[in-house]
Amino acid sequence: MNISLNQITKSYDNTQVLNNINLSINEGEFLTLVGPSGCGKSTLLRVIAGLENASSGDVIINNQSMNKVRPNKRNLAMVFQSYALYPHLTVKENMLTPLKLKQLSFWQRQPIINRFIPGVKTKVSNMMETVNEVSKTLRLEKLLERKPGALSGGQRQRVALGRAMVRNPVAFLMDEPLSNLDAALRVHMRSELVELHKKLGSTFIYVTHDQAEALTMSNRIALMMDGDLIQVGTPEELYHNPQDKRVAEFIGSPKINTLKAKVSNGNLLVNEYRLAKGISLPEDSEIDLCVRPEDVHLTEENADLSFKIHHKEYLGSDCFLHGSIENQNQNFLVRVKPSEAALLTIDQHVNIRLQREFCFLFDDLGRRINSELSNV
Ligand SMILES: Nc1ncnc2c1ncn2[C@@H]1O[C@H](COP(=O)(O)OP(=O)(O)O)[C@@H](O)[C@H]1O
Ligand SMILES: [Mg+2]
Repeated sequence: MNISLNQITKSYDNTQVLNNINLSINEGEFLTLVGPSGCGKSTLLRVIAGLENASSGDVIINNQSMNKVRPNKRNLAMVFQSYALYPHLTVKENMLTPLKLKQLSFWQRQPIINRFIPGVKTKVSNMMETVNEVSKTLRLEKLLERKPGALSGGQRQRVALGRAMVRNPVAFLMDEPLSNLDAALRVHMRSELVELHKKLGSTFIYVTHDQAEALTMSNRIALMMDGDLIQVGTPEELYHNPQDKRVAEFIGSPKINTLKAKVSNGNLLVNEYRLAKGISLPEDSEIDLCVRPEDVHLTEENADLSFKIHHKEYLGSDCFLHGSIENQNQNFLVRVKPSEAALLTIDQHVNIRLQREFCFLFDDLGRRINSELSNV
């Protein structure tokens, strides 16, 4: 079961919110659509589900175009942020309802009357078996008779998942399913979802604005900005090999550092200090050099730049030094061990060295420049 998106565009009135999206999702993979609020993630998910028509392009499932296939015939299960549970029905009834709607006719669903229709009893008892099985997987067995109002956020989330699971869909589409949970539960549910994905082996398409969720849960990440898909890859690829400055800045917390650099005589200069030579870019090119706080080291020898410490952010296992570099208008962060930080004082100037293999260069349009930074 493969899902392909082929040149999908979507406009509302005169505003285009999805620009030519091409993406192939593999069978059984956990793919996350991530990007800032408003970039088009939900719209794309709704186009896949068929809840929204694309303005152009195709959604292809198992080599078949879905453009004329109605949402309920696509065999995809959508799990929403709001859970959308029926408040007046018990957990068991909430999970049974989608099965009844799918497998029973109108008359077969009518109480009293349906007692006289042959076969209904067997069907319902098969459905109940499915519900019991799913409840076991999701640890909902003891909650089956409760109503949603008497459940915690995490339990409601599991019921919403259960309601999707009973239909045995070819893929699960989830739109920010954890965002209504408190911070601790959200982190806990990440691993629950990853476990569930492993257990079911089905395709998960997961939408979030949270880069940490994307990094921790996905097999692959598709990063969107302003209606464009800008990079697709494994979490490691997006973190260690960003192809666009917006990817470098969006993935990773705290945010990556950016230094303004310039090319002169084939040298890469930051504040007139030569960081690399043999750069084959036009004279005076303005370049952004991005480097993560953990790839900057305090050093006695071979220093690149001087860094002034403004404050220390102590996190127990790590310490982030916040500060600045002369002539650079952006704040700069350096990650050090707490034992290293203890020896430093506020307003002190320290020498730093940037780890060359993790320095990313971007041109004035934010595109990655694949120049090897030689050590100088
Ligand atoms: N029904 C609609 N009518 C008009 N504009 C919409 C509609 N739905 C979404 N949009 C716009 O499309 C853009 C993408 O929205 P959405 O897909 O919800 O973003 P995300 O889920 O990434 O936060 C936003 O600018 C939003 O305002
Ligand atoms: Mg959304």
